[in-house]
Parts: sequence; structure tokens; C-alpha cells
Amino acid sequence: MSAALIIAVDGPAASGKGTIAARLAAEYGLPFLDTGLLYRAVGVGVLDAGGSLDDEAAAEAVARALDASHLSDTERLTSREAGEAASRVAGYTGVRAALLQFQKAFALQPGGAVLDGRDIGTVIAPEAQAKLFVTATPEVRATRRWRQLTGRGEVIAYEDMLADIVRRDERDAGRGAAPMIQAEDAVLLDTTDMDIEAAFDAARRIVEAARVRHGL
Ligand code: DC
Repeated sequence: MSAALIIAVDGPAASGKGTIAARLAAEYGLPFLDTGLLYRAVGVGVLDAGGSLDDEAAAEAVARALDASHLSDTERLTSREAGEAASRVAGYTGVRAALLQFQKAFALQPGGAVLDGRDIGTVIAPEAQAKLFVTATPEVRATRRWRQLTGRGEVIAYEDMLADIVRRDERDAGRGAAPMIQAEDAVLLDTTDMDIEAAFDAARRIVEAARVRHGL
């Protein structure tokens, strides 16, 4: 690839954006950052230090001290508890500011990158050539996340999972400093009626169109 290709994949919890982003990264040979993991690591860090998720200063201190060693326990970071904690600390302006430079630098590295999150196309990498906003109905997203979590032994009722998803959507969308909104130049990909193969195929076509448009 001659010029850098930045692919921004945003969308709500359990929309399939993470899987799509990881597969796009493999397809184009680009480094990949799941930015949700950063917020999850901050939430888990606050809890592990015995702190409160209501304590904005504590969350910001954890975010400022974050390094790669905090991102290795993916099983813990992808738990329901970590997701809930992440969505709480992600509302703090200081936490978002502390994580901003690392994400921007990752996006702008030579050769390009794929990032997935909520604000990649709007805040982290507005210059991204390919932007996708991946979504699905709350019911379908709750079913997917329920299968994933119960499949590895977490005990949770589907109704509670759906309530989690709806609450997360409200919190993510209502965030003053960084609301989850589709970038104006992002392409909407609704995966409600798609399996992962169909969703990836649609995503790849969106990226291909963007490459043609940008002469990449
Ligand atoms: O994508 P995820 O479920 O791993 O994200 C966990 C939480 O982190 C989510 O509720 C919102 C927050 N988040 C964010 O605010 N901005 C991002 N770029 C990524 C995640």
C-alpha cells in the first residue's frame, strides 16, 4: 500500500464493529486498536484499586498511568463488569483527554491503522479515509453479547443483557463531550440481518469504495 489508509469503525455496544474491524485489519495488513479496551482498562483499574466509579479524579489518574501491561487480560477486560465500568468512566472529560493522544498517534502511524470505538471518525481520526458506523437492533446486539458471555461461563439472563445494552446506548449517546454519533462522512452498516461473513463482506466493499475515492 503506498499512502496511509486509516479505517474508523464506530458504533454501539455489541454491534459487531470489533469483529469487523479486526478482520479489516487482517485483510489490509494494518495495525488494529480496539479503543473500548482502553476505557475498560480504566474502569477495571479504578475497581481494582478499591476506588469508586463516581470518582472522576481517580479515573483520570488511572487513565494517565495506563500502559500496555493493563491491556493484556482480555478475558477480564471483555467481561460484563468491565463493560459497565468502562461506560461509566468514559463519560469523564479528563479520562477522554488522557486517552486522546495515544489514540491519535496510533491512527496517524505511518502506513495507516484500523481503530474501533465510538468517536474514531468524529474526534480521534476525522481524517480517516474510510469510516463505518456499524449498528444493529438492541435485541440482536443483546442476543450476540449474551451468547458470547454465557458461552464462556458468565451467568446472565437475556433480559438483563438487553437492559444493559439499552442503558449503555443511552449513556454513550448522552455524553456531552464525546457523544456517540455517526460522522457525516461515515457509511451506515446495519448488521441486524447479517451474519459475520455478510457483515464483513459489506464492510470490505465500503472500504474498497473509499480507497477508490481517495486513490489509495
Ligand atoms: O466498545 P466497548 O463495548 O468495548 O466500549 C466500552 C465502553 O467504552 C462503551 O460503553 C463506551 C466507551 N467507549 C468510548 O466512550 N469511546 C470509545 N472510543 C470506545 C469506547
